[in-house]
Amino acid sequence: MRSCVIFLLLIFAVGFALFGTVSIGNSQSVDEVGYAGVKTCAGCHGDRAKGWQTTRHAKALETLKKKSQDNLPGCVKCHVTGFEKDGGYVDQELTPALAGVQCEACHGPAANHAANPMNKKNLIVRPGEMICRECHTKGQDPKFDYANKKRFVHGENQKGGKP
Ligand code: HEC
Ligand code: HEC
Ligand code: HEC
Ligand code: HEC
Repeated sequence: MRSCVIFLLLIFAVGFALFGTVSIGNSQSVDEVGYAGVKTCAGCHGDRAKGWQTTRHAKALETLKKKSQDNLPGCVKCHVTGFEKDGGYVDQELTPALAGVQCEACHGPAANHAANPMNKKNLIVRPGEMICRECHTKGQDPKFDYANKKRFVHGENQKGGKP
């Protein structure tokens, strides 16, 4: 009987190690982070995804293709989603679903949230100016005006509303 309990505990421990959350030094726990891609977001955020399709962010990699510069890392990094980040864009063959500046370029990798909508731990709910400035740098876009431009991120005239 006792060995049976120990056996069950062991199974639990192994299962937790394999599938559970990872505990870090200060006992904060983090889920594994990953990108889901805009097609997945569209399943529940249809209106925003539709609006986003009309933005230049959606076509950012196309822009580089037209100039045959879609394989230059120095250009690609600001024209795709999660370049050189864990689970982010690598190239057009490996990660075609992360082409362009998608939802997760601003809202952060959200595979966890997509799998369980109530999970908003890693989600950046209202991306601030700092996020935009990773790409709209002083050098690249000197006149960038956050308050004005953020109105257009989900497509023109797309105001908040329900997800
Ligand atoms: C299975 C359905 C589902 C999928 C897939 C999904 N979401 Fe959500 N999302 C929701 C729901 C439902 C809410 C509202 C939750 C709430 O109000 O508590 C939400 C809320 C949000 C919010 C706002 C959070 C807040 O507190 O207001 C953001 C931002 C968001 N989702 C981004 C994303 C992104 C980016 C993706 C794709 C990677 C995505 N979602 C995929 C269902 C989904
Ligand atoms: C991952 C890089 C990246 C991030 C993050 C990013 N952008 Fe962009 N943005 C671009 C690129 C690249 C273009 C140009 C796309 C094209 O024309 O091919 C662009 C274009 C735009 C445009 C259309 C052109 C213009 O200047 O009017 C707006 C509006 C815009 N971004 C707003 C924002 C806002 C607001 C944020 C933050 C909330 C943001 N962007 C975050 C890369 C990014
Ligand atoms: C630091 C981030 C960043 C890098 C690196 C970057 N871009 Fe962009 N790119 C942007 C942003 C932001 C915009 C939109 C604002 C603007 O027009 O400057 C943009 C816009 C563009 C546009 C549309 C411009 C227009 O006026 O229609 C082209 C074309 C472009 N980029 C090509 C390139 C090429 C080619 C490279 C590599 C040599 C490159 N980008 C590297 C961020 C970047
Ligand atoms: C270029 C950056 C950018 C992109 C791309 C983007 N968003 Fe957003 N999103 C924002 C910003 C900034 C806000 C906050 C707007 C505000 O404060 O007025 C926001 C707000 C939201 C909210 C509402 C949060 C709340 O409760 O107010 C949801 C839901 C959301 N975005 C989902 C999405 C989805 C889904 C996509 C992809 C189809 C997407 N976003 C693409 C920057 C972006």
